[in-house]
Amino acid sequence: MKKASTAVSPPPPSPEITARVDALLGKMSLAEKIGQLAQISGAEFMPGPAAEDTIRQGGAGSVLWLNNTKRFNDLQKVAVEESPSGIPLLFALDVIHGYRTIFPVPLALASSWDPDVAEQAQSIAAKEARAAGIHWTFGPMIDIARDARWGRIVEGAGEDPYLGSAMAAAQVRGFQGSNLADPERVLACAKHFAGYGAADGGRDYDPVFLSEAQLRNVYFPPFQAAVDAGVATFMSAYMDLNNVPASGCRWLMRDVLREEWGFTGFVVSDAFAVGNLVIQGHARDGQDAARRALTAGLNMDMASGTYVGNLADLVQDGSLSVDQIDEMVRPILTLKLQMELFENPYVDETLLDKVVALPEHRQAARQAAQRSMVLLRNEGGLLPLSKNLKNVAVIGPLADSMEATEGSWMVFGHQPAAVTVLQGVRAKLADGAVSYAPGPEINRDFPHPFGEFNLSERKPLQSLEDAEAAFHTAVATAKEADLVIMVMGENADMAGEFASRGSLDLPGRQEELLKAVHAMGKPVVLVLLNGRPLSINWAAENIPAILEAWEPGSEGGNAVADILFGDVNPGGKLPVCVPRSGSHAPLYYARTLTHQPESSPMYRSRYWDSPTTPLYPFGFGLSYTTFAITKLRLSKAQVKLGQSITVTADVTNTGQVTGDEVVQLYIHQKWGSDSRPMRELKGFERVTLQPGETKTVTFQLGPDELRYWSTNANGWVQDAAAFDLWVGADSLATLHADFEVVD
Ligand code: BGC
Repeated sequence: MKKASTAVSPPPPSPEITARVDALLGKMSLAEKIGQLAQISGAEFMPGPAAEDTIRQGGAGSVLWLNNTKRFNDLQKVAVEESPSGIPLLFALDVIHGYRTIFPVPLALASSWDPDVAEQAQSIAAKEARAAGIHWTFGPMIDIARDARWGRIVEGAGEDPYLGSAMAAAQVRGFQGSNLADPERVLACAKHFAGYGAADGGRDYDPVFLSEAQLRNVYFPPFQAAVDAGVATFMSAYMDLNNVPASGCRWLMRDVLREEWGFTGFVVSDAFAVGNLVIQGHARDGQDAARRALTAGLNMDMASGTYVGNLADLVQDGSLSVDQIDEMVRPILTLKLQMELFENPYVDETLLDKVVALPEHRQAARQAAQRSMVLLRNEGGLLPLSKNLKNVAVIGPLADSMEATEGSWMVFGHQPAAVTVLQGVRAKLADGAVSYAPGPEINRDFPHPFGEFNLSERKPLQSLEDAEAAFHTAVATAKEADLVIMVMGENADMAGEFASRGSLDLPGRQEELLKAVHAMGKPVVLVLLNGRPLSINWAAENIPAILEAWEPGSEGGNAVADILFGDVNPGGKLPVCVPRSGSHAPLYYARTLTHQPESSPMYRSRYWDSPTTPLYPFGFGLSYTTFAITKLRLSKAQVKLGQSITVTADVTNTGQVTGDEVVQLYIHQKWGSDSRPMRELKGFERVTLQPGETKTVTFQLGPDELRYWSTNANGWVQDAAAFDLWVGADSLATLHADFEVVD
């Protein structure tokens, strides 16, 4: 049984557009066709021929790493008026979580467990980016990440394929809308196909080894969800997947993506990845790399110049046919026509200022941040805080950092402009009630290589003496206060690309400072700003209130203060397990059982020096109210293969304030063709409840939820087997039922 592929995706072109593509292909020279397959850099830091000259000759189909509205129009004019066939350029940029209005990072958006939040965020990002002249974003990044050491975990939706698929589809809808010609949307790009998140040791770019079952059951579902949502483009990943570089992998790009899933858009390589096929030891030279990538199904060469430098020779010597080139160019031209780029190639240079000034953009960013934050601890109901506090210290290196608040992956040239936690807290309390000290700075041990692009802006590192003085000032400031809010975590450059780390501890002297402040015996609240789960073991035992705010974006500081002071009740849930140590990664809840399950008292841990359970489980998050999930009901306890079961449960707000609960459904198949995970998420719903209110949530469990790719059967199967089912508020849910699927 094969998992059904859906209709053609993205939406098929009209007959008129197909005829226009045919006409264009009929008149374009081979060089122009190859030009459409080239994405060139618009960045000043990249050496090479002037973009104008390349474009004038029809040598580029797309430009990236440029973020300048006026220059977009100038280059577009060259393409439209001076190049041989006048084909407009696609301007592409990484717009990952906002263009000017910055939304929470994708890992945080996933913590909302509310796909509408992600869709709205990306629709606003699209509207602003398009107003700036950008047509195409390199997002969403939908790599499943189960290893928190991997820096790019921040760009995705975490560890789970079900939640990840919902977030992938929502982001595609947000970026693209329902009509490719919508002038307020951009083309989306599902990346990085596929398996990048499983890099050996969590080390960015390192090889990945995943079985077909792991790929199809865990790593592929968000990509297939993106196709089903109509995503226009895909990006191939950098790394070797089972010893084949993903950008040269025919199985991924042709067999799975196009033939099985029905994708008809185009695939762009990751930056320089076609040329890198030589460095990675796959291709003999540039010509071999171009041939391998193109025949594997890769349409557009991002920035390596390998297609432009070699494809004509390959056609000349008969290694490739013009038809093979046309096949690669066709979806690029089709999408340009479907976007109506030929009709509207230019951007109104006065538009951006009006669009970014829209108050609903800041409002949406604030709401998204509020809904993304996860309350990890609240002993004794320390939170919410009173707004009558007269003497609060805000301490920590990230408390007033706009960069850390906005997070990683800003668009080129972005000027940080976030409301910091310090500012947000100050806005809630009377003038003069808040003192501040940053404490020692935190820095990477090895600087971020991308920092080389703006070396002039790099500050010298803090000296040891200055760090010591900053430590003492922070302790002294805390000593004067009645309550201390510590804002700690990671700088923006500590997560993202080339930002993997071996440890998951708070970097620098942060924990030492936290301990020093805690030792004074005052109430302490810890606000975490970070792009990956952190192993805050000591804080989890000792600091009474902990809010995981992630990297919350432009309105992050306001959203933190809204939660700390009770204007908003937190309802986010973790989209990842939080490991107790970096050495425990990869760690995820959906493991298979072993012959010595950890539930048995004898084998509680896989290590003798620490528990292997997560510090906080997947799906976990607290609220200022309490909930009861009860009355689990199944429409049938036994169904035939292919049939569905309806599962319902009641959720009641049993506390004193309005709040949100995310009701989660997990299953476990007890036996079958293969072993199945001890728990798998198969449904969730975030509901808002007044005190005393009850709602009934309903989930459907059908063949789509119950089938899986079986190693033993070498194909999709649905087994006749018995299942456990749990409904609850996190992946440790205990409300249980049994059901059975029979032949
Ligand atoms: C990253 C991609 C990104 C591309 C273009 C690469 O280094 O891996 O995610 O889209 O650069 O900026």
